[in-house]
Amino acid sequence: MHFQCLISNVRGKVHMFPQRRMRRVRTRNVQPLLCETTLTKNDLVAPLFVDETTTTPKPIESMPGQFRYPVEAISGIAGKMWERGIRAVLLFGVPAHKDEAATSAYDPEGIVQQAVRRIKSAYPEMVVITDVCACEYTSHGHCGIVGGIRSGEKDLLNDESLLLMNRIAISHAEAGVDIVAPSCMLDGMVRSIRNALDEEGYEDVLIMSYSTKFASALYGPFREAAESGFSFGDRTTYQMNPANGREAFLESRLDMDEGADILMVKPAGPYLDVLSEIATLGLPVAAYQVSGEYSMIKAATERGWIKERETVLETLTCIKRAGADIIITYYAYDVCGWL
Ligand code: PBG
Ligand code: ZN
Repeated sequence: MHFQCLISNVRGKVHMFPQRRMRRVRTRNVQPLLCETTLTKNDLVAPLFVDETTTTPKPIESMPGQFRYPVEAISGIAGKMWERGIRAVLLFGVPAHKDEAATSAYDPEGIVQQAVRRIKSAYPEMVVITDVCACEYTSHGHCGIVGGIRSGEKDLLNDESLLLMNRIAISHAEAGVDIVAPSCMLDGMVRSIRNALDEEGYEDVLIMSYSTKFASALYGPFREAAESGFSFGDRTTYQMNPANGREAFLESRLDMDEGADILMVKPAGPYLDVLSEIATLGLPVAAYQVSGEYSMIKAATERGWIKERETVLETLTCIKRAGADIIITYYAYDVCGWL
């Protein structure tokens, strides 16, 4: 806009364009009144790694500030979070034993099952969510049972792996979990797990499906954290191509139809267009700010290139603005201290 557009009325008073002055709504005292999106502690879920192979908290090198905790430490750390106002944690297990069939994933004395029991008995009000997947428990590092030949190599077997997911979900339910979160991107996983839970009398256990999960390079640091990297191939025959928006919507809609209670988009930041579309489906939507998103902010902060707190609050507020009801973030604990 140029200042050439000056006009004067009959009294000779000068009027200036533009007439809609947007800066009026940004005067300092009016700003808070007009804020459209407010991040709160109730929006946040903190991921936690529980590690059967350690007796002391082990720092995760690629995720500064994050640790793998021994099960003995897990209710203490959950308590620290609870005191700060975090009401939900998402558990990942690092087992001592891995095999082709992921048998430790559904062991009643498995690492996650133990952690769930400990947290729920110390903090019954804490919402405990578990990742239901096999990649931390399989010797090959894929998310289920592998076999056959597809696209020229061994691949994840869909229906055989569904039975494994049912067993994992039931073992978590028996331990007292509130929400199971299947993350394997198998076809039919939500209906299969819903039926299995209902048959065992766990109709009150929610399913938060990783319904739209992209095959993302941003999971790199997590794979170090959970020791869940794959030994051959990649995950692109089950996780989604980041280029596909319509398919992303369809994936979440199918999980809604299968009975998911909460949908999820993962990663979060680069996929806000997908998130806002999926929010129109009507179910609650979670967004997962993944390990790589965390580590990028950490790394730039450590170099003094960006301000951590401002960057984190901005990214999370934008994720909420795009339509997320729940945000899973490794920054949950810090954010609860800042808010
Ligand atoms: C397991 C799982 C992964 C993540 C969450 N659940 C890894 C993967 O799919 O490779 C990634 C979380 C993160 O990067 O923070 N399937
Ligand atoms: Zn997996």
